[in-house]
Amino acid sequence: MIAINPIHIIVVGAGLIGPRHAEHVIKNSQTELFGIVDPSPSAKEVASRLNTLYFKCIKDVIDYCEENSIPIPDGAIVATPNHTHVKVAAELAYFGIHLLVEKPLGSNPQEAKALKDFANSKNVKLLVGHHRRFNPFIIETKNQLHKIGNIIAVQGTWTLRKPQSYFDQSPWRTNHETGGGPLLINLVHDLDVLQFLFGPIEKIYAELLKKQRLEYSDNVDEGAALTIRFKNGITGTFICSDNVTSPFNFECGTGENPTIPLHEDLQGFYRIFGSKGTLSVPDLNLFHQADDKEEEQSTTTGDKSWLHPIEKKSLIDINELRTLQPFDLQLNHFVDIIRGKAEPLCTADDGISASLCIEAVLKSIETDIPQYIADMKSISPDYHALGYVHDKTVQATVTTNTNTK
Ligand SMILES: NC(=O)c1ccc[n+]([C@@H]2O[C@H](COP(=O)([O-])OP(=O)(O)OC[C@H]3O[C@@H](n4cnc5c(N)ncnc54)[C@H](O)[C@@H]3O)[C@@H](O)[C@H]2O)c1
Repeated sequence: MIAINPIHIIVVGAGLIGPRHAEHVIKNSQTELFGIVDPSPSAKEVASRLNTLYFKCIKDVIDYCEENSIPIPDGAIVATPNHTHVKVAAELAYFGIHLLVEKPLGSNPQEAKALKDFANSKNVKLLVGHHRRFNPFIIETKNQLHKIGNIIAVQGTWTLRKPQSYFDQSPWRTNHETGGGPLLINLVHDLDVLQFLFGPIEKIYAELLKKQRLEYSDNVDEGAALTIRFKNGITGTFICSDNVTSPFNFECGTGENPTIPLHEDLQGFYRIFGSKGTLSVPDLNLFHQADDKEEEQSTTTGDKSWLHPIEKKSLIDINELRTLQPFDLQLNHFVDIIRGKAEPLCTADDGISASLCIEAVLKSIETDIPQYIADMKSISPDYHALGYVHDKTVQATVTTNTNTK
């Protein structure tokens, strides 16, 4: 599709998710794919399949633009392994390229905070890729929450079994040090969604699940069971596992990821309990009582049952929700951010907040004690995680200060 005044986007990382982002960039009427950056030999083929330019590193992109006297790309989508996000994003920010960074924003809150500060210092806009905030199932869930009265509790699951090939293809997924494991890869998404729906989490307790992939068991988790308390008093439980046979996960339920088959009619990967009803997600069924007279009904009616029957009401035709692609909606939003028409729906602080929750999960597992989520203001940014652009920037600042004295 030919775009008018297009936003030029470069995709960094051409593994599982990068090419999917690239395809959305190609299809979008407001964007043009500038190229693909990835040092892996297989990435060249990906670029050729997508009919776009191929670069081994970001510096090659900048050199190419200089040599050909063309502007550098407006924005980048960072889809590299978790532990590389901050360094890669910082290099792009150094050149003033706006950022959509895949989740998690950083391997830990300290490096994520450093990236936030650095992007701000360069006037670079930063959107965190918790794309489920754009998922129509989540948007509709948020819209319908008022129907269940006071929200008291939530129960959630993200459970499936990842095949061995998933680990063989990308060994970074088998080690915590490189951001592997379902807590860092998957749970971080659900915790962001829960905070998006119910506000900030205050406290988490986590128990590690029994491990079955014994060859990686020293290096990486297979999931955990959590109890959660939100600041507003809502409480919840959540089970996350990437090694059980189960369709009870976001992707199977919504069908949003082409690599994970849709499970038709899945009910209740989230159940949200309120004073007036229970909302089940993704089916968006409301379980409620036909009227609010449960206090009056009793043995006086002569019924054996002391409770009104619970009725199930379908709130929406969920097939309509499947026609809207969250990656498209996220990309449109990124374009609006770059054009100055919108502020990020998922900010650096949201990314840092999700990262703080994961930090609490890991600490709770380590100590066997519930953990309060640390205050964002208390985080000391780890500027060294920015890599060579940090040294370059510090160097430039020192030189400027010396020259102006
Ligand atoms: N939003 C989602 O639903 C979703 C889904 C899957 C993955 N992700 C996230 O996307 C990121 C990538 O995951 P994946 O499964 O595609 O990983 P992957 O291992 O399949 O692909 C990563 C690619 O990045 C390349 N790479 C590594 N270092 C690089 C660098 N410095 N510069 C450029 N390229 C580099 C690798 O060669 C590889 O091709 C992860 O952060 C993951 O958490 C998000």
